Amino acid sequence: MITKLLHPLLDSTALKQAADLICAGEVVGMPTETVYGLGANAYDSVAVRKIFEAKGRPQDNPLIIHLGDIEQLPEVCPMITTQAMQLARRFWPGPLTIVLPKSAQIPPATSAGLHTIGVRVPANPLARQLIRMAGVPIAAPSANLSGRPSPTTAQHVMRDMDGKIAAVLDGGPCTVGLESTIISLCEKIPRLLRPGAITLEQLRDALGEVAIDHALYEQLAENEQVSAPGMKYRHYAPKAPVTVVRGAPDVTAAYIARQLTPTTGVLCFSEYAELFAGHTVQILGGKDDLQAQAQEIFGCLRAFDDTAVTEIYAQCPPDDGLGLAIANRIQKAAGFHLITL
Ligand code: TXA
Ligand code: MG
Repeated sequence: MITKLLHPLLDSTALKQAADLICAGEVVGMPTETVYGLGANAYDSVAVRKIFEAKGRPQDNPLIIHLGDIEQLPEVCPMITTQAMQLARRFWPGPLTIVLPKSAQIPPATSAGLHTIGVRVPANPLARQLIRMAGVPIAAPSANLSGRPSPTTAQHVMRDMDGKIAAVLDGGPCTVGLESTIISLCEKIPRLLRPGAITLEQLRDALGEVAIDHALYEQLAENEQVSAPGMKYRHYAPKAPVTVVRGAPDVTAAYIARQLTPTTGVLCFSEYAELFAGHTVQILGGKDDLQAQAQEIFGCLRAFDDTAVTEIYAQCPPDDGLGLAIANRIQKAAGFHLITL
């Protein structure tokens, strides 16, 4: 299959071509504000199966459903609680996925047989235009091969998906750079399943009590019953093993500098890059610039795979605000192999 790279800024028919492909049951790489998604008609089991095939994704891992407008929610979710409405009004369009009971119209292929769905209205205008033009909700996981870091540019998507899907819609680099926050409202106490740009602090401000899923802090067993099936798989991992060094940045940088061998790679804050001159260094961003770190992390993890590094040491921000989501992705890339100083 030839994968078309569509440029909506240069070609006024690009969006329409992408929407037509979705309607024809094809899979299209699409930009969102978080990461690129691999989109297909959420109602079409055959189309959805093509997503699983292209990614090499385990069948028990459900897809997030993307809506063009908040008004579309009753179509995919029969029971919208006050809490759900509150979150939707406050954070949509935006990087928050809400897990809710699903309507019968969503086939088991999309929800991986669960009775719930994760649903969100993305903030990226191209994504919403595409969904509206297609006229159906779009099911989309992140557009990476299963286990690889999520793609934050159309080029990352082409790297993983060229020849496997019909097209990629190039919307430029993603503004957030990390996948959406996921919160489940299907339990007694709302539960944070995946941290993202809508922070735990913001969710607690909106809802009061919010529990944190333990998958945020440790590697899960392959056979464990989990709230978000995707959380149990090894994620974001570069080929070389990663060690995360947590603690005050001056201290962690000095520690990493003492571990260096000729083939060590380092993921560090920009303030410390000089310490590692002569080594393979990926710069996460300034130590206090969480937004830059969120935008850069997946590109950095991908870049190590184009080098000959045999091990990677990583600095990591503290767990507050957006830092929780960045730290979570770095720790998952490391299989939760941490050293705390
Ligand atoms: O920002 C994002 O969320 C991106 C863009 C494309 O929207 N999508 C994304 O999808 O990250 P994916 O498939 O890579 O991650 C979705 C996660 C998986 O861990 C999956 O198990 C979980 O959401 N999930 C989906 N539906 C769920 C449900 N009904 N209950 C619990 N977890 C669910
Ligand atoms: Mg993913």
